[in-house]
Amino acid sequence: MESRRLGTHGPLVSAIGLGCNNLGRAGTRTATVEGVREVIDAAIDAGVTLFDTADIYGAEFGLSETLLGQVLAGREGDLVIATKFGHAQFAPALAGESAPGSRPYIRAAVEGSLTRLGIERIDLYQQHTPDQGTPIDETIAALDELVAEGKIAAYGHSNFDSDQIRAAADASPRLGVAPFVSAQNEYNLLARTVERAVLPACEEVGIGFLPFFPLANGLFTGKFSRTERPADTRISRQRPHIAEEAPWDAIEAFEAFASERGISMLEATFGWFLGRPVVSSVIAGATTPEQIRSNAAAGSGWRASAAELAEIGALFPLSEAGQD
Ligand SMILES: NC(=O)c1ccc[n+]([C@@H]2O[C@H](COP(=O)([O-])OP(=O)(O)OC[C@H]3O[C@@H](n4cnc5c(N)ncnc54)[C@H](OP(=O)(O)O)[C@@H]3O)[C@@H](O)[C@H]2O)c1
Repeated sequence: MESRRLGTHGPLVSAIGLGCNNLGRAGTRTATVEGVREVIDAAIDAGVTLFDTADIYGAEFGLSETLLGQVLAGREGDLVIATKFGHAQFAPALAGESAPGSRPYIRAAVEGSLTRLGIERIDLYQQHTPDQGTPIDETIAALDELVAEGKIAAYGHSNFDSDQIRAAADASPRLGVAPFVSAQNEYNLLARTVERAVLPACEEVGIGFLPFFPLANGLFTGKFSRTERPADTRISRQRPHIAEEAPWDAIEAFEAFASERGISMLEATFGWFLGRPVVSSVIAGATTPEQIRSNAAAGSGWRASAAELAEIGALFPLSEAGQD
């Protein structure tokens, strides 16, 4: 498994990470601790070192972190444990009425995550969504305080637009504190708007990018086709519109592109991400040990060249709408 630096200032992470929003998700094999153990053990065996969760993941608040902590207990030393706080829409009230980006909120949130994960230090602590009501200086100062206290090793953000990414990067030297090391936003072949402004901003300020929904919820794994929709999947259970509205002509052309190179669509998908140095790790989710094994293997080979990035890009045009 290739290791890549998370931006200029972050830790080394495996090119394929494990997205952990399935941990504790009702109706999946990772709803239980036994199912989680199978997936995490397979991930570690396959060389995965980055585990990305959040306080809100799981059937109830904190469940994904709790399950991850139980299963990793004693093994976290060589791994990079990433979690998130303060989702503007879903975060519960912590620290009274304080806003999710405020110092009191962050201090309450980090204690909860440390306890649930059963660790003394979080490797990457990410602000889940921007908080328009709190000056970024306050958020950064609070996060830097946690670094100084040894409660977190580094911090990142998620769902920031390019202006917010630049504003956050400008603040750190002004405050004399460590910078954000990573950004995490939606990015996959059907949602490429980050290529317009967010990825260039990340490159400019030297932070690593972690794409979420990299497989478009499983659409790019090869198990869906124009006519096949396996029932026991997140897409069929919860988001059937993803397969119903998928651009099947483009996906079939992408499959042909992959088979011309003797690789699977899964390998082509991971290689498309990892052909961009700004993408540090592809944090795909997995509900079974077989899935994480396949993802780790698929992400260990082929990388798209600049010409191939353009060729694939022509199949899945950038939409006009979306975050800048
Ligand atoms: N920052 C944010 O706001 C935000 C938002 C969303 C997600 N995230 C993060 O991004 C991570 C990744 O997103 P995601 O897990 O939701 O979506 P995803 O990676 O696009 O899709 C993962 C799903 O695809 C299926 N799958 C994965 N590998 C497979 C394989 N090899 N063969 C067949 N099926 C396979 C599994 O679902 P089934 O088995 O059910 O088909 C799996 O749950 C999350 O876990 C989370 O850490 C962050």
